Formats: sequence, C-alpha cells, structure tokens
Amino acid sequence: MKILVLGHKGMLGSDLMLRLGAAHDVTGIDIGDFDITAGDDCARVIAEFSPEVVINAAAYTNVDGCEADRERCFAVNAGGVKNVALACRGKGIRIVHFSTDYIFDIL
Ligand SMILES: NC(=O)c1ccc[n+]([C@@H]2O[C@H](COP(=O)([O-])OP(=O)(O)OC[C@H]3O[C@@H](n4cnc5c(N)ncnc54)[C@H](OP(=O)(O)O)[C@@H]3O)[C@@H](O)[C@H]2O)c1
Repeated sequence: MKILVLGHKGMLGSDLMLRLGAAHDVTGIDIGDFDITAGDDCARVIAEFSPEVVINAAAYTNVDGCEADRERCFAVNAGGVKNVALACRGKGIRIVHFSTDYIFDIL
C-alpha cells in the first residue's frame, strides 16, 4: 500500500515509518517539506505523492505552547487536519488521524 506519513520526524511519525516501512511503500514528510497550516501546500504534497493512505502525525504538541499560542495550536491541530481532509477529498484517499490525550478548556 502507498502511504504518506505527515510529521514523520516526530515521536509517532518516526515509529510509524519503522513499523510500516517493512511492509508498505511509505514516504514521510515534515515541517521542512511542507506546512500543514497551508492548504495549497497540503494539496501540493498529496498530489505529488498520490498516496492511497495519508497518516497524519503532524501536530503542535507543546502543551504549554498551545495554551500560550492558541492561534498556532488551532492552525496546526485543527486547521491542518481540515487542510489534509480537503486535499484528500474526492480522490479516494483514506486518512488516519490521531487525537490527543490532553483536554483543553477553551472557554
Ligand atoms: N506521542 C504520544 O504518546 C501520543 C499520544 C497520544 C496522541 N498522540 C498524537 O499523535 C500526534 C503526533 O504526536 P507526537 O508525539 O509524534 O508529536 P511530535 O513528536 O511533536 O511530532 C509532531 C511532528 O509534526 C511536526 N509539525 C509541527 N508543526 C507542523 C506544521 N505546521 N506542518 C508540518 N509538520 C509540523 C513537528 O515538527 P517540529 O518538531 O519541528 O515542530 C513534528 O515533527 C499528535 O496529534 C498527538 O496528539 C501522540
């Protein structure tokens, strides 16, 4: 299966690369290659690699940073997921996305 791992240099992404790499055609990209907050960037890399599955392990995971910079937190962790979904829509590409074990009070 042709798999694109977003955020492949992170904790989860690097483990996925190791685990999946033996059995699948896996490519990893990270912040140096694309920015998940940019819709056109997501569309570009997904069109370029043409994967069957996109696994999203790209995230802004600095918990204190997220509380201090809500804009960046939302842009990466919410807007980024939307960008990936829009880039895959209509192409038959499956998306795997991981949630968090942290809950934030946004009120
Ligand atoms: N690790 C766990 O135990 C665990 C548990 C539950 C859920 N999860 C979920 O799994 C996902 C990944 O977690 P992780 O622990 O692997 O995080 P991580 O180690 O911080 O990896 C995230 C990767 O995404 C990259 N990234 C950040 N901003 C980006 C952007 N704008 N565009 C593209 N890439 C960007 C990071 O680059 P930089 O490092 O340069 O910022 C990093 O390489 C998160 O959604 C997290 O909530 C993880």
